[in-house]
Amino acid sequence: MDKGQGKKKAGGVSRRDFIKGMGTGALGTAVLAPLHGQTIATKKGRVPVYDRKTIGLTVNGKGISLDVEVNETLLDLLRDRLDLTGSKKVCDRGECGGCTVLLDGAPVYSCMYLAVRADGRSVTTVEGLATGDRLHPVQEAFIEKDGYQCGFCTPGFLMTTAAFLKTNPEPSLDEVKQALSGNLCRCGNYAKIYGAVDAAAKKMKGA
Ligand code: FES
Ligand code: FES
Repeated sequence: MDKGQGKKKAGGVSRRDFIKGMGTGALGTAVLAPLHGQTIATKKGRVPVYDRKTIGLTVNGKGISLDVEVNETLLDLLRDRLDLTGSKKVCDRGECGGCTVLLDGAPVYSCMYLAVRADGRSVTTVEGLATGDRLHPVQEAFIEKDGYQCGFCTPGFLMTTAAFLKTNPEPSLDEVKQALSGNLCRCGNYAKIYGAVDAAAKKMKGA
């Protein structure tokens, strides 16, 4: 046996005690009761704590209800549970726009948006942009103007562009650049993307 193991330090705690304590602490953490259903004190009194919640939302025009974990992102919900994989998980930290979806018509990074917050809201993903077999004018324009290379960023650009052109149907190039500044294209295909947005604006105006 290692004689040093039981030796107390000046503070009265041996290395063995310390390591045993750590183990106990970790075990204690692991067996803590889940918070769900408990209440916590706030200035306004005790409020319930949830770790899961049933939410109702509309996704691409279809109403759904499902149980979500409170830390589940909208992107994970869409991709992993609804099999809507058009929205891409690229950076997963709100930097690239590859996960952009429309929430009540406005673009959001779905990787940074908790699914519980979408309760009662309407979500549109790239899968919901076309109408039946008819592509959205923005999709048509991106195809016609080669607005993509590898295509990984494209769903995010399509969603941002579709929302932007609704609010600004005749944008200047500077306005387009500003509106799309939250979407990154690692292929650097920006010139063609801006050309596609211009073509989409013309199509939507004529539609
Ligand atoms: S994956 Fe969401 S911003 Fe990059
Ligand atoms: S087309 Fe490849 S990342 Fe944009």
